[in-house]
Amino acid sequence: MNETSKKRVVSGMRPTGKLHLGNYVGALANWVKLQDTHECFFFIADWHALTTDYADPSQVGSNSYEVALDWLAAGLDPERTTMFVQSHVPQHAELHLLFSMITPLGWLERVPTYKEQQQNLDTKDLSTYGFLGYPVLQSADITIYKADFVPVGQDQVAHVELTREIVRRFNNFYPGKNGAVILPEPHPLLTPTPKLPGTDGRKMSKSYDNYILLSDPEPVIRQKLKTMVTDPARVRRTDPGNPDVCPVGDLHKIFSDGTTLEKVYAGCRSAGIGCIECKGWAADNLIKTLAPMQERRKQYEQNPKQVRDIIAAGDARARASAESTMTEVRNAMGLSQDFEPPQQAAGKTP
Ligand code: TRP
Ligand code: SF4
Repeated sequence: MNETSKKRVVSGMRPTGKLHLGNYVGALANWVKLQDTHECFFFIADWHALTTDYADPSQVGSNSYEVALDWLAAGLDPERTTMFVQSHVPQHAELHLLFSMITPLGWLERVPTYKEQQQNLDTKDLSTYGFLGYPVLQSADITIYKADFVPVGQDQVAHVELTREIVRRFNNFYPGKNGAVILPEPHPLLTPTPKLPGTDGRKMSKSYDNYILLSDPEPVIRQKLKTMVTDPARVRRTDPGNPDVCPVGDLHKIFSDGTTLEKVYAGCRSAGIGCIECKGWAADNLIKTLAPMQERRKQYEQNPKQVRDIIAAGDARARASAESTMTEVRNAMGLSQDFEPPQQAAGKTP
């Protein structure tokens, strides 16, 4: 496939600091694969982080850097992928502003994550203009690159749907030259996410302190697995268990090879193995998967200039693409930089 025939995907990730297995399995691993088949734009959504963390932005910069390291470690390839930082491309903010003119308030109040998040993050005051407008910013992020597809988890599909509605309204109001459609409607590309619970059995999340980082060293991974919850029915060593209802079993299904899996299923169901042994195998396989990533991370950690150059190059590519869309958008909305005198209406004399 040559570059021009490839469909374009655009996706963003909030800078939450060092990434965990849930981030990898739920998004990053899929992004790495998409590089083979699509033209990829991936960015660190630092403005999005500010919609909830505006009162203390002290971690946003370092968290963004950690995310970039983990992306490179996981195998995002700067030769093939445009990886950049959202706030380094101010055109996103301009399109956000223009979209905000045409987005009815009702559409935003109806976005399911709006009320949910406001309730979940009840320690923060999220009754702000920026938080309500979050999905409009996301719509600008996607549209400014004329994305064909947006790889997202189920929780973000509503945002892509809203993007499509905003784009339709935009195209309706502002046709391009000769009636051309300026902005294509993006499609969500639902990421298939295998179940990956944290060490306490709940969804893996930074806010639950139940996560395993991609960058956790071997002893830390072994320790975290030791305390991981198992099939609650397996109280004694002699009780049979079921890997399908065990968080350790879920880890095996994602990271272990077929031979290990067979041993786990047979041994667990017959009480032939103990959980400690089983967790040891899970740790072995996980460590084996993470080893090449951690090796790459170390290289980049020792080479901050290289990381900075990679992001700067991504920023520049993203800005060029974003600016080209914005030129069309400005012209269609009567904001052309070629400031011209009013046209005289035909037939009238001044
Ligand atoms: N809202 C997304 C999240 O919380 C992150 C994001 C921001 C995004 N802009 C985007 C995802 C554009 C896809 C496309 O996970
Ligand atoms: Fe879970 Fe393994 Fe114990 Fe079975 S043996 S309950 S899969 S940890």
